[in-house]
Amino acid sequence: MREWWLDERAYAGAEHLDPQYVQGYDRKSGFDPTEDVDVLRRRGLGPESVVVDLGAGTGTFTVAVAPFCGHVVAVDVSPAMAAALRERVEHSGIGNVRVVEGGFLSYEHDGAAADFVYTRNALHQLPDFWKGIALERIAALLRPGGALRLRDLVFDFAPAEAEERIEAWMAGAATDPALGWTSAELAEHVRIEFSTYSWLLEALLDRTGFDIAERSYRRSAYGTYTCVRRAE
Ligand SMILES: C[S@@+](CC[C@H](N)C(=O)[O-])C[C@H]1O[C@@H](n2cnc3c(N)ncnc32)[C@H](O)[C@@H]1O
Repeated sequence: MREWWLDERAYAGAEHLDPQYVQGYDRKSGFDPTEDVDVLRRRGLGPESVVVDLGAGTGTFTVAVAPFCGHVVAVDVSPAMAAALRERVEHSGIGNVRVVEGGFLSYEHDGAAADFVYTRNALHQLPDFWKGIALERIAALLRPGGALRLRDLVFDFAPAEAEERIEAWMAGAATDPALGWTSAELAEHVRIEFSTYSWLLEALLDRTGFDIAERSYRRSAYGTYTCVRRAE
């Protein structure tokens, strides 16, 4: 490891390393992965496909996609998340999932190139310089023509609009921290995490070899991208 390389776990978000938070995560998140699985299936996901879920958390997407594909590698940098994920996979009796404790900057893919990479609500943990390196590493593990489905908190506005848009976004925050993210949690996210502007993220995707096939933004603060890895 080079001296200047980022310690991903130190940037993973303290809550993600906390087993108690991990235990309540699915209820708080309320995440339904059906649409993501459908999008991948429409893009050719099938019984031979290799899928990598980066920042997989407790594995909601992993266990939803596993029945429709050949193999899933579920990667998370947090030991507590990886343990919960492993337990979930074991209990569900799914046999085609491998859980790896690792991250965007450390996961080493082996075997057949991936057909799909999925990552949700995790890339913002990395500063933009490192997002670029993470996206480059994702492009390297995908086959040409393979797809990246990226969902994350992304700010789709100009800096001059920040105050108005962030305030509007926070006005829709949850009031119960067990059932969603409160305005205090969103404020902390803006202060100390690394959600970036859509126009910076889109440039990073282009620079690292992705064509954006579909993009959408919700409330100017959440982006969903389906990207195709260009052939060299
Ligand atoms: C908000 S959770 C999202 C989990 C899951 N993708 C979902 O949508 O429910 C963020 C996850 O990213 C993981 N994470 C943070 N930094 C990471 C990194 N550098 N590489 C891989 N995973 C990371 C955290 O441990 C956590 O499990």
